[in-house]
Amino acid sequence: MFAEAQELTAETVDFEEMWRDPYPLFKRLRANNPVAWVPQANHFMVTRFDDIVHVERNQDTFRSLEPRSLVHKVMGHSFMRKDGDAHLAERTIVSPSFSPAAAKKIWAEKFRLIATDLLDQIEGKGKADLFVDYATPMAARCLCEVTGLTNVDWRDIARWSQAMMDAVQNYAGDAEIARLGREASDGIDAAIDEMIGARRTDEDKSLLAMMAAGGMPLDSVRANLKVIIGGGQNEPRDANAGLIWALLSNPDQLAAVRADDALWMRGFEEYVRWISPIGMYPRTVDKPTELGGVMLQPDDRLFLLVGSANRDEAKFEQADRFDLHREKKQHLAFGSGPHFCAGAWVARMQVANIAVPMLFARLKGLALDEDDPVRCGGWAFRGVLNLPVRWDK
Ligand code: HEM
Repeated sequence: MFAEAQELTAETVDFEEMWRDPYPLFKRLRANNPVAWVPQANHFMVTRFDDIVHVERNQDTFRSLEPRSLVHKVMGHSFMRKDGDAHLAERTIVSPSFSPAAAKKIWAEKFRLIATDLLDQIEGKGKADLFVDYATPMAARCLCEVTGLTNVDWRDIARWSQAMMDAVQNYAGDAEIARLGREASDGIDAAIDEMIGARRTDEDKSLLAMMAAGGMPLDSVRANLKVIIGGGQNEPRDANAGLIWALLSNPDQLAAVRADDALWMRGFEEYVRWISPIGMYPRTVDKPTELGGVMLQPDDRLFLLVGSANRDEAKFEQADRFDLHREKKQHLAFGSGPHFCAGAWVARMQVANIAVPMLFARLKGLALDEDDPVRCGGWAFRGVLNLPVRWDK
């Protein structure tokens, strides 16, 4: 039965095409083959909204633990790949850094200072690549604050994050990519060693402070901070640059947002639905089960394609359009269930409350640079790759 199911659903996927534009393939899979066996990847691709929610609601059948994965090898055993009580114990320790109250009372002011400094640096130039000059340093400098690794230059955080993300996708075993991943991991360990024993005030709600106060073992501190540096850099960077691009490409929606501050957040949620910065995350089957008409067996591995689920026509009308006026509905850009993104409130504060509104308020006459088009790429992680713009000096 299992072999037959695999054969019936086997898909040949062109990964290069998928990197350029995964949405036509996702649409086809949702319609014809929603739990598709992809032999090249040795994974099933799960593309429908309801099937992903079902997986996330049934943690006793589908697990996050995957000791053979590259994430585990590169970053160690973080709470993102633990289940049940082991996950909850560590997530509880870090939650004071990530709460909506912390975002508002602790991080907002620090993030505002960072955005102001970055805008001071670029305002007089009249043109920039905002991906490089704004979204990247904004995400990295905010991450130094939230992690408590204020001993690290933001450029190192950005570089280490990218090196680890490359290493966790290094399925071809490229030696140089693996070396850079190890170098990043060693750099983070050294920075943690330097800061973990630092004297702290009660006001210090950084992750390192919470981990030290909560008695988290050093191995877990290291793995968790690595996963947070991996995930806490590129995603807010991509949401920041992507939302600016989406608004500049849709002047009527930009005008609406300028007229009503509440819409910045709607724009943010709509952007991460439309182009989900994390388009895929994995799960592993623990017990025999059926999903989308396909029989799955223990240790079968799944790619949960939230980038597809967020365009599922069964859930969203005209899902391929960026439309911040669309009916408010749950999306899966932050995942769902116990592993729902811990950093969601911090990301919302950074991008929707601070970075994007402050940029539009400061740079008058902001427009895309018609001579240098914006490019997008990726499917597991997707976003703009550049954001050349001009404004009035
Ligand atoms: C727009 C920005 C972001 C997006 C779209 C995003 C998306 C996600 C997704 C989809 C997951 C689930 C992964 C899985 O279950 O395997 C996740 C988990 C997580 N994210 Fe984010 N993320 C963002 C920003 C951040 C930031 C800024 C931080 C930290 C500073 C962060 C920290 C985490 C952590 C710690 C987890 C693991 C939670 C757990 O396992 O309990 N994220 N994120």
